[in-house]
Amino acid sequence: MSTMFLSRSEVRDLLDMREVIGAVEQAFKDWAQGKAKMPTKSYMLVEKGDFRAMPGAIPGAAGVKWVNVHLGNSKLGLPSIMAILIYSDPDTGYPLAIMDATDITAYRTGATAAIASKYLARKNSRTLGLVGAGHQAYTQLMAHAGLFKLKEIKAFDIKKEAVDKLIKTFPQHPIKGGSLEDTVASDIVCTITPAREPVVKKAWVKPGTHINAIGADAEGKEELEPSILKEAMVVVDDMKQSSLAGEINVPVRKGLYKVEDVYGTLGEVISGKKRGRADDRAITIFDSTGVAIEDIATAQLVYKKAKAKGGYLSREFVEE
Ligand SMILES: NC(=O)c1ccc[n+]([C@@H]2O[C@H](COP(=O)([O-])OP(=O)(O)OC[C@H]3O[C@@H](n4cnc5c(N)ncnc54)[C@H](O)[C@@H]3O)[C@@H](O)[C@H]2O)c1
Repeated sequence: MSTMFLSRSEVRDLLDMREVIGAVEQAFKDWAQGKAKMPTKSYMLVEKGDFRAMPGAIPGAAGVKWVNVHLGNSKLGLPSIMAILIYSDPDTGYPLAIMDATDITAYRTGATAAIASKYLARKNSRTLGLVGAGHQAYTQLMAHAGLFKLKEIKAFDIKKEAVDKLIKTFPQHPIKGGSLEDTVASDIVCTITPAREPVVKKAWVKPGTHINAIGADAEGKEELEPSILKEAMVVVDDMKQSSLAGEINVPVRKGLYKVEDVYGTLGEVISGKKRGRADDRAITIFDSTGVAIEDIATAQLVYKKAKAKGGYLSREFVEE
């Protein structure tokens, strides 16, 4: 037995968005049916950022992701978010692989939002709005372009160069820069900023819009005016995690929104326990905080492909 070590570029080369969407959707289904395990992620604040430990198990795989958010890192030429995942055999605990999980995080975040859009957005959605054009915007775009026939993609960022870079990266997609208000006037809107105050105003959200609220994944973060939540059908990835760290966390603390008003979880909708969108004029919101089963399901794909391909660095890590 040996432990496989997979670098960031090796993991990236093994990732395929279509496969990740399939694996993540199955993981949510398994979780809703009691076949997956996942304690709430734990946060540890340090002086210049934070760390999160995210353990989880799905059928055939277990593991933990250790991920940081250090927003000052760009000055040092380092990414603000980096992640490592230990991938283990659930039957023996053997560490089968240690892999970079930075791109796993981006892929599974994009995949999960697109899965939410599949169940919650209007089937005839043709326009996508990206509020925030940083790292996560790329995989939001890739995942949605795989599931919807998009005729227009708009992107807004407080840094124009971020939008320009996004447009340049995807010449095959109909992307243009737009004003914030214009970008929000899309059939599907993904908010992917680190904002701590609402960026999206209620007045700009049209009836029938689906919003993936991705950016708020820690206490104190929020991207939407709370009045949008009050009128919308809100679906969360994890009830406890969302109320503590998701889009609803600030409004709940301020008494502007009640956890009881959440419609359900993504797992309940995917597994058919609860219905997805039923009304073309409803505003739907997916509050994504990011859950460990998404990472483990993606890591399982990566590990299986790496094993089949062979040739990666492996070591007898566990010695007698
Ligand atoms: N829910 C999840 O599963 C999940 C997963 C990964 C990241 N995130 C969160 O998503 C957010 C974005 O992550 P990232 O990796 O893309 O970060 P990033 O730093 O690469 O990009 C963020 C972008 O948002 C822009 N921005 C900041 N404030 C803005 C505003 N008010 N309006 C418009 N644009 C604004 C920045 O200029 C930047 O281009 C972070 O808050 C991160 O913690 C959530």
